Order: sequence, then C-alpha cells, then structure tokens
Amino acid sequence: MDKEHGAFAVPESIRKLTAGKAFSTDGVGMSKAQVMVFEDCVLKIVPYREKNEETVRVMRWLENKLPVPKVLCYECDGERQYLLMSRLPGRMACDAYYLERPDELAARLAEAIRMLWSIDVSDCPRVRDLDTELREARFRVENNLVNLELAEPATFGPGGFKDPEHLLDWLERNRPGYEPALSHGDLCLPNILIDNGRISGLIDLGDTGIGDRWRDIALCWRSMRRNAEGAFGGKVYPDARAEMLFDALGVKPDAEKLRYYLLLDELF
Ligand SMILES: Nc1ncnc2c1ncn2[C@@H]1O[C@H](COP(=O)(O)OP(=O)(O)OP(=O)(O)O)[C@@H](O)[C@H]1O
Ligand SMILES: [Mg+2]
Repeated sequence: MDKEHGAFAVPESIRKLTAGKAFSTDGVGMSKAQVMVFEDCVLKIVPYREKNEETVRVMRWLENKLPVPKVLCYECDGERQYLLMSRLPGRMACDAYYLERPDELAARLAEAIRMLWSIDVSDCPRVRDLDTELREARFRVENNLVNLELAEPATFGPGGFKDPEHLLDWLERNRPGYEPALSHGDLCLPNILIDNGRISGLIDLGDTGIGDRWRDIALCWRSMRRNAEGAFGGKVYPDARAEMLFDALGVKPDAEKLRYYLLLDELF
C-alpha cells in the first residue's frame, strides 16, 4: 500500500516522477478510473484491459498533431495500468463559464470536431469503426456488462427495445453508411479543454481511432444538451441549445445517424 498515491502500489518509475508532489483527485468521469491531478501532470490508474495499450499507442501517434496529453510514463502490472501524462491547461467545456456563453461554446466544440477531422488517418494505428464497436458491444451484451441503470429511460421497456440483445440485433441490422475520420470516441464536454478561446486539450482517448464522424457529433451534441439541462450539476442553461453545434459545424443534423450512435452508446 502506497499512502502517497492512495490505495494502489504505484510502480517505482512513476513514483519517482511524482514523489512529494501534491495532487487532487478528480471525480468527473463515471468510470472505475482513478485520476490524480498534479500541478504539471496527471496519473490515471485503470483496471487492466488490453485496449489501454492501444490507447497509449494512439496518444503517442497524436503527439504534435493535436493538443493531447504527452505520455510521460506508462506501466502495467497485469492487474492495473498506470498512465502518467502531461497536464493540459484550460477549463472543461462543461464549465459554467462556457455554458453561460453558448455561442462561444458551440464554436469551440465545432473547432474540436474539425481538428479531429483534419488529421490524416492513413497511418493511424487504431481502428474504431462500426465493426469494432459492434464486436465489443456483442462481447458486453453476452457477458452482461451493460449497465441498464445508465440507459435513457425510453431505450428499454415498453415502446423501446426489449433488452440489450434486442438493441444489439437492431444495431447490427441497421448499420448506417460509413463516413470515416479520426474519431475521439468519447467526445463529451468534460473531455474537451478550452483555454484563451482555443481548444487546449482533448483528453480521455480510450476509444480514439479511425471511426465514423457521427459518433463524435452525436456524443458531443448529447453532452451539450445534458449539461445545458442541468443533468449533472442541477443548474439549467436554457440558452445553451445543443442544436447550435450543427450551425457552428456547418453540418445538417442527420437524425437517423444521431439516433443510431446514441443507441450504440447505450451498450457501453
Ligand atoms: N491530461 C490532463 N490534463 C488536464 N486535466 C486532465 C487530464 N487528464 C484528466 N484530466 C482531468 O481529469 C478528469 C477525468 O479524466 P479522464 O477524462 O481521463 O477520465 P474519466 O472520464 O474519469 O474516465 P474514463 O476513461 O472512464 O472516461 C478530466 O475530465 C479532467 O478534468
Ligand atoms: Mg473523461
């Protein structure tokens, strides 16, 4: 037990780099991740999953291409993975400052999406297309890993899908056309950092890779809506209409693709 780093014994290489530094813990995400924010770096500790190695690879590939955290040290002890990365400046896009300035917020979110789309993916080391996502969704459904409590009330039950298996069947049979680009994969407002009127950070790259453009649009649009509705903090921001994202992006909303990617997300 290493008191300085909480409940886990942090590998020596990482301990050396963080020893004696003060940190705060972060409670924004919903995962089992433990995030320690130091003055100039962030340590993220997650239960072991093979896909985290791919995340580190994609982060390294994106260095100097996008404002993503620099990987300072990565270790794995078979049970957990420890990622020490640089701390990026800025406030999260869900900060009250931006929700009170919806034009500015929509412009920055559109900028984040366009930054992703501007990346040449020909040598991107990771694919997160619909085949990959549906395969992972199938694994989650078959192993009872879908948390129904996190689903939108209308998704399952009367008028909706019977259960996750039913939804997965529908998703497999109703695949939309593919519009590939670099896709962040979890482009919600807390994963976008803004500083001085520009995007200063895209973080939480666990699902980043070549994927469909509408996956990011859908999750970003829903995140703006939920944050504006006060779903996380109680305060409501009626002027922050999520539709503003489409105007800022110059893209016509595709209701079917939005629905498809939000339904797919119910299985994760
Ligand atoms: N490199 C970083 N620079 C600045 N802040 C960071 C950085 N990494 C994480 N944070 C802060 O910690 C919060 C949580 O980190 P992160 O988004 O990586 O994990 P999570 O959302 O808890 O987990 P999950 O991987 O399951 O989505 C972020 O919203 C941000 O406020
Ligand atoms: Mg996050």
